[in-house]
Amino acid sequence: MTGVMLSARGLALSFGGVHAVRDVSFDVRVGEILALIGPNGAGKTSVFNLLSRVFNPSAGQVDLQGTPLLKVERHNVIRHGLARTFQNIELFEGASVLDNLMLGCHSISKVGLISQLLQTRSLRAVELASRERVEEVIEFLGLAKWRRSQVSGLPYGVRKNIELGRALVTRPKLLLLDEPASGLNVDETERLGTWIREIRDRLGVTVVMVEHDMSLVSRIADSVIAMDQGSVLVRGSAQEVQTNPEVVASYMGAPQ
Ligand SMILES: Nc1ncnc2c1ncn2[C@@H]1O[C@H](COP(=O)(O)OP(=O)(O)OP(=O)(O)O)[C@@H](O)[C@H]1O
Ligand SMILES: [Mg+2]
Repeated sequence: MTGVMLSARGLALSFGGVHAVRDVSFDVRVGEILALIGPNGAGKTSVFNLLSRVFNPSAGQVDLQGTPLLKVERHNVIRHGLARTFQNIELFEGASVLDNLMLGCHSISKVGLISQLLQTRSLRAVELASRERVEEVIEFLGLAKWRRSQVSGLPYGVRKNIELGRALVTRPKLLLLDEPASGLNVDETERLGTWIREIRDRLGVTVVMVEHDMSLVSRIADSVIAMDQGSVLVRGSAQEVQTNPEVVASYMGAPQ
């Protein structure tokens, strides 16, 4: 498939006097892995928060394959095919891996509350379909041995993986990953890179990832956008962006 998956134009977001996002425009092509880099506070997570409707921009437009995304309410974004993970893992810590993944499915289920209460046939059909999607993801991410475990007791790398799984069970067309490699060791990062590629290649999902690990970015990103102080500085290949003088200067001036 070719074409544009998402197009953002003139996005702006402020918190008091802080311009977290200033006039940000970019396209995400169908089937690409796009990386968003930049020093701490550059506005990367804020861009994700605008796309996933956590915050309303003060200006701008977003088109997701014909859907004006800024008109979609936050809880409905996922039904339009956009899923995300968070910089700080957000899971139901007291629930099992399986339950967390099932809950991910419920966020897109169209079965109404009444039907859920009455345990109707449509609910059972949804449960079966959900279960199938969950099992696929458990196998894909190698989560089988933790399926019944409570999330809170699991190692960090596994919990990050569960969050990725919870986004995948919704079968998104666009996946936003906020620092997927942070806190992972070298082997886990290597495996993550392979998974992200497979998510694109085998599952046909377009990926935008915020990431500080430039070796991961160089390995898997088709295109890289560098941000600083709320603005896009440059877009290009990992090599081009990393050697861009403005990008280099932005990292020097930032507290790390
Ligand atoms: N909810 C908020 N309330 C107030 N200020 C915020 C909020 N979220 C972000 N900011 C501010 O907006 C700016 C951009 O923050 P953002 O989290 O988007 O940066 P980032 O590029 O994701 O940084 P990091 O690499 O550290 O995650 C920063 O100055 C930050 O302090
Ligand atoms: Mg961030």
